[in-house]
Amino acid sequence: MLNIIAKAEHTHDLTKDEIVKLLATDEYNQELFAAADRVRKRFVGDEVHLRGLIEFSNICKQNCLYCGLRRDNQNLKRYRLTVEQIIDFARKAKSYGYKTIVLQSGEDSSFDVPTMQHIIREIKAMDMALTLSIGEKTREEYAAYKEAGADRYLLRIETTDKALYEALDPGMSFENRMRCLRDLKELGYEVGTGCLVGLPGQTLESLADDILFFKAIDADMIGIGPFIPNPDTPLAGAKGGTFTLSLKVMALTRLLMPDINIPATTAMETLDPHGRIIALQSGANVVMPNVTEGEYRQLYALYPGKICINDTPAHCRACITGKINGIGRKVSAGYGYRQKKKIGQ
Ligand code: SAM
Ligand code: SF4
Ligand code: FES
Repeated sequence: MLNIIAKAEHTHDLTKDEIVKLLATDEYNQELFAAADRVRKRFVGDEVHLRGLIEFSNICKQNCLYCGLRRDNQNLKRYRLTVEQIIDFARKAKSYGYKTIVLQSGEDSSFDVPTMQHIIREIKAMDMALTLSIGEKTREEYAAYKEAGADRYLLRIETTDKALYEALDPGMSFENRMRCLRDLKELGYEVGTGCLVGLPGQTLESLADDILFFKAIDADMIGIGPFIPNPDTPLAGAKGGTFTLSLKVMALTRLLMPDINIPATTAMETLDPHGRIIALQSGANVVMPNVTEGEYRQLYALYPGKICINDTPAHCRACITGKINGIGRKVSAGYGYRQKKKIGQ
């Protein structure tokens, strides 16, 4: 096991079998996490990039079996922010010191291209980097957002097991998700993708394929989180992913992709009260605190137990800064774009 970790740390390359070996035990693997932490420090340094997350609509036309925002969930009060609210939340986030805004939502068609372009232009005029995470769109739509100034796009592949993907995302096609990621890359976005860990029917082999896929497409950001079953979805009774396995997938991703941005995800902290800090010490270098104000935080209910739903953006900003400083790291003052490095030097 130790020689596989050493190989990953120095060559940033592993075979599928080697990855599966490291994932195979559900034990905490301090050697793996420490190696990922060293690679993080060597390639992307000690700074932590904060991204202010605005969850602007929980209305979704899709029906992903794992997600609380799925259209068939009748137990959720739906909301969409007004354009003015979105811009206002972004302005407040800037005043708290954020340099990046992430706009995330369900697939809500009422935000048409001109509306999104207007929002993008207003936020870009505040001198912020802008990330979108609004699902599958046509190439023309992605091009229009880019033209308005969007810099980055997050679209998790969720799982590279095509049959599993299509079983869990009824009405969606794996090919179209891949097409989206390809279009986003070609259009010049920084592209973020990632997977859910612990989906029913997911194997360690398929998680290894996920990690190798992230590397093959040269993604700029990888978000990995445990699947947390939501009682208002068809997967209510599923087991869900563990913190340790999610952390291992994340640490292996850092070892294989040393210079990318990797968030310590909210879902990690939902399973462990120190989840984000442990993740930051196991390969992560980004945190995405919520900057949505008011009751909307509770209504963006992907899974139960989500952290920070009763806190304010100001409180979260101070809280996360304190935690980051508490482990001897500091919040970056930059935009936090990926700095591509020559690997293997
Ligand atoms: N609708 C867009 C999309 O699907 O790409 C963006 C919003 S969606 C809510 C963001 C991410 O939430 C998904 O990519 C998925 O990985 C994650 N998610 C959904 N349900 C989840 C659950 N039950 N547990 C953990 N993460 C979940
Ligand atoms: Fe909609 Fe995204 Fe949830 Fe799927 S994961 S139901 S696309 S919000
Ligand atoms: Fe929200 Fe700590 S980051 S309460």
